[in-house]
Amino acid sequence: MGGDVRMLTKVPLYLAPMSGVTDLPFRLLARECGADFTITEFTSSAAISRDVADSWVRLESDDREKPFIPQIFGGVKDEMVETVQLLQGKADIIDLNFGCPATKVTRTCAGAALMGMPDDLVEMAEACVNASEVPISAKLRLGTGKGANNVVEICQRLEGVGVTQLCVHGRTLKQGYSGEANWQEIAEVVRGVSIPVIANGDIINAKNAAQCLEITGAAGLMIGRGAIGRPMIFNQIKQDLDWVESPPPWQKDISSNIWDCAEQIERDFLVRSWAWDRYIELCKETVGFQAKWLMRHAVSFTKGLPGAREARKAMMSDRSPEALAASVHKYLQNEYKSLLK
Ligand SMILES: Cc1cc2nc3c(=O)[nH]c(=O)nc-3n(C[C@H](O)[C@H](O)[C@H](O)COP(=O)(O)O)c2cc1C
Repeated sequence: MGGDVRMLTKVPLYLAPMSGVTDLPFRLLARECGADFTITEFTSSAAISRDVADSWVRLESDDREKPFIPQIFGGVKDEMVETVQLLQGKADIIDLNFGCPATKVTRTCAGAALMGMPDDLVEMAEACVNASEVPISAKLRLGTGKGANNVVEICQRLEGVGVTQLCVHGRTLKQGYSGEANWQEIAEVVRGVSIPVIANGDIINAKNAAQCLEITGAAGLMIGRGAIGRPMIFNQIKQDLDWVESPPPWQKDISSNIWDCAEQIERDFLVRSWAWDRYIELCKETVGFQAKWLMRHAVSFTKGLPGAREARKAMMSDRSPEALAASVHKYLQNEYKSLLK
């Protein structure tokens, strides 16, 4: 990295909330790998306020996850307020989702659809702030994509009703995940409010993390897709920007004799294997094996590695979560050993 990039002031790194990805063991792993903050995947306030058991599983936390930040969404103010009340004593901060573009969410006038109804959005946030003893943060997009973007105006109003922190994903609802995140518009939000703004969208390595920080002047950076299957990204960014002095956590488990002689591809296997084994340990220590989560991570932790496609076919035929966990471990170990021959 260039010298000027290393001079950047250190800011906290956030693991983005991601439905189907950021389960508790994965969030704990991301923290061990250098994420300063983690947020649960979004949870429906309609489901929580009706006490749907499956939704409460998503709101599991652990002493190692401090602060604990559950994210909630919904289109009905009273259900959001009730959920905020139910989370008192459990959450350290509650995050409101005003950014989800999924049709099943926006058709209930929740998520990013609320950006098209700014008065309702602000009223909902204000009611949540008034009902909560813990800080309320909000995650938004730039706008709906119909007409001019309104994120700056909404963020100023959210600051006015007592929201303490904002995160902006630099795309509109209409864009979904297409095109490029617009960091310049995030910079306008940073300039327009006095509460901290976290920048989000398309950060995948130290170089573009540094660019995003320079353009936006944000108080923190949030990483989503770049961390899927690669929670190590947080430590790697911090190492490259000279933001950490301690070695990465995997280095204490991988002998330096092996590491020092390893080629890049061998190191990829060693680190992914470490991360997978640690994920499995964290599952056992917390919520146990959840088949859906395990399957998703089995694919992402092996993605892009030689032989992964064929190995995955075999993995997917494993019936029990235990067998799947063991077969991913075996693939990562055996392929690594075959590279040494
Ligand atoms: C699989 C997936 C699930 C997501 N689920 C959520 C969610 O539950 N809550 C939320 O606020 N954003 C969600 N997002 C959006 C991310 O938090 C983030 O804003 C977006 O991916 C842009 O960041 P990135 O370019 O670093 O991925 C999700 C994104 C993905 C890819």
